[in-house]
Amino acid sequence: MSDAPITAAAPNRTMKAIVRDRYGSADVLELRDVEVPRPGEGEVLLAVRAAGLDRGAWHVMAGMPYVMRLAGFGVRKPEHVGLGSDVAGVVEEVGAGVTGLRPGDAVFGTCGPASGAASFAEYALARPDRLARMPENLSFEQAAAVPVSAQTALQALRDRARVRAGQSVLIIGASGGVGTFAVQIAKAFGAHVTGVCSTPKVELVTSLGADRVIDSSPMRTARTSTRSGG
Ligand SMILES: NC(=O)c1ccc[n+]([C@@H]2O[C@H](COP(=O)([O-])OP(=O)(O)OC[C@H]3O[C@@H](n4cnc5c(N)ncnc54)[C@H](OP(=O)(O)O)[C@@H]3O)[C@@H](O)[C@H]2O)c1
Repeated sequence: MSDAPITAAAPNRTMKAIVRDRYGSADVLELRDVEVPRPGEGEVLLAVRAAGLDRGAWHVMAGMPYVMRLAGFGVRKPEHVGLGSDVAGVVEEVGAGVTGLRPGDAVFGTCGPASGAASFAEYALARPDRLARMPENLSFEQAAAVPVSAQTALQALRDRARVRAGQSVLIIGASGGVGTFAVQIAKAFGAHVTGVCSTPKVELVTSLGADRVIDSSPMRTARTSTRSGG
């Protein structure tokens, strides 16, 4: 197979993207016209159909905790203006050396911001080893909610905890992005699952298959009252 890039895109196009020039709260975000990135060697350009919002996007936007700035995100200001990692979309252009993906393929996974072309935009750059083909039973919106949170839950349960059938698993934060996947994955592994969440989320965690749900709201209220001397 040739190493030449396969392109369906014209050069020097612009796109709408959510960008920022400094770290901070959501006030730093702006909708701007920026140039559509071109895929480098080993990258693909995706037409973004849906972007997922995982907690990591907040960390990258805020530049917190500070130690993450040293990991290539930019010390005083963001190294790259783009934001957003979780993505689902259609391959638009394929960079040199990419095999196995072609324009028109529907995929989901993670992209930027290391490359500077992240998912809160009309187009994003991604590496093929961070992408999987879209399952037929998922919408783009559903698929974009999966990558970071589900991968974190899977790695924790399968690779770290090595959960096996018959074990008991306690999931604190069972109603969160990671926790909702953790409940379902632990159940799929055959574990007995107890989820911890606040009162409004008890029904959700139960519906995900938890065998037992502990409502943490009364404990949190008691802790807050104790701290404030109530
Ligand atoms: N290392 C990685 O690659 C990686 C990737 C993803 C996430 N993370 C980390 O994993 C953690 C969870 O991420 P996430 O995406 O699931 O976050 P999330 O969607 O914001 O969920 C947070 C969860 O924490 C619960 N919670 C909040 N305050 C609590 C309290 N005082 N006591 C007990 N539970 C409380 C919430 O429960 P209620 O809403 O029911 O109150 C919710 O279930 C975060 O610290 C995140 O930074 C790490």
